[in-house]
Parts: sequence; structure tokens; C-alpha cells
Amino acid sequence: MARKLAAGNWKMNGSVAALAEVDALVADLPTGCEVLLCPPATLIAPMVARAGGSGLQVGAQTCHSAASGAHTGDISAAMLAEAGASHVITGHSERRTDHGETDAEVAAQTQAVLEAGMIAIVCVGETEAERDADVTLQVITTQLAGSIPDAAEPTRIVVAYEPVWAIGTGRTPTLDQIAEVHAHMRAELSARMGESAAHDIPLLYGGSVKPGNAAEIFAVADVDGALVGGASLKAADFGPIAAALAAS
Ligand code: PGA
Repeated sequence: MARKLAAGNWKMNGSVAALAEVDALVADLPTGCEVLLCPPATLIAPMVARAGGSGLQVGAQTCHSAASGAHTGDISAAMLAEAGASHVITGHSERRTDHGETDAEVAAQTQAVLEAGMIAIVCVGETEAERDADVTLQVITTQLAGSIPDAAEPTRIVVAYEPVWAIGTGRTPTLDQIAEVHAHMRAELSARMGESAAHDIPLLYGGSVKPGNAAEIFAVADVDGALVGGASLKAADFGPIAAALAAS
């Protein structure tokens, strides 16, 4: 069975003052799952310090694929690891849209994350137009194949299914739709890496996860956790989501 992971993505939100949420979160950290927060890069080191030895893990939201060089404004995987990051999200749809990141770039970033000794959370997901055109599973197949590098060690990969139309909208797929995509992802990964390796890869659902819908989503087969945006900003929301995962 894959390990369970409740991952929060603060996106471009937060400040040193917001680290008070870390205190509230670690005061009641569940033990039945891993809990991760991915703040803006400037807050990684302070958040790691604030989390202390609590078990709360801290990650990053993206990285450059190169180790160093003339890439103004970018941050390498090794730099994030040095700041204390344990995970890096790669291929989030906002990166794919805002920065035109392709599957090949996402695979190169994922490779860089693995080489730096961290875990990559690789994001895939269809747009609303793709779901309406009934090509969701083909889109997921293509993104999975293109975004995970061949040499990837299954124990250091997490995959997040995030339908683009569910992110930040308050809309979620039906539980059957989530089950269908997650079963498809598990089958695709099994075909590529073997069944046992594929079952070790946590498959997260992401897109408008809230305390009110977390438990029913975690009860879906092949859902091993969540990638949470808006509801990860407040411990009062993210704590109960993590607790629901631990209890699932
Ligand atoms: P949301 O974002 O929870 O605010 O919908 C999810 C994500 O983008 O990871």
C-alpha cells in the first residue's frame, strides 16, 4: 500500500506572519499520514525552522531543471533541498498554463528533484474542454508518460490528479470520476513500472478539497491523499483534512 500524504500548496500566498498557522497545525499533527506544506520559496527555510522536529514536512512548488547557471529568477532543486525542502511539486497546471511548461520540461524538473534527493509530486489533469470532449483518460495517459522520467525511482514519486476545472473553483468531480481516473493512473503506472512499484506510489487527488468533502474523497479506491490549495492556508481547514486522511 502507498503511504498516505496530505500535501498543502500555498501557491503565491503567505508571509512570515502566516507561519503562525504552522504552530497551530503541528500542535495537532495526525500520526496516521504524512503532512506536507509547500509555501513560497522564501518561506521554506523559516517554515522548516518553525516546524522543528514536529514531523511536518516542507516542500517547494516548482524548480528549474538545471543545476545552476544563467537562469535569472529561477531556483534549482539542490537550492531547495539546502533550504530544507523534502518534496517539490512539478507540472502543476498553473505552471503549465502561466509558464507554458511542457511534459518534457516537467520530466526534466522531476529528474532534477530526484537527483537532489527529494520526492517529486508530479501533477496531471484535464481541462474542462478535454473532459467535455471525453478525452480525459487519454490526456492523463499522455501527461503521465511524458512527465515522469524513465529513470524515476517509484519510491520517490507521488502523482497528483488535479482536474484543471476543479482547482480553486469549489467544483469537484463525482467520486466515480475520481475513482475512474485514479484506477486508470494505477494501471498506467503498473504497465510501466510493474504492479508492486506502482502500488507504492501515492496517488493524490487535488482540486477544491475541503474539510467537508475530504473523508468521502479519501474513501475512494486508489486515493492515497490530497494536494490542497486554498484550504491549506489555514490550520483550521488543513488540520481536519489531514486528520480525515489519517483516519481513512
Ligand atoms: P484548490 O487548489 O484546493 O485551491 O482547489 C488545488 C491545487 O491547485 O493544488
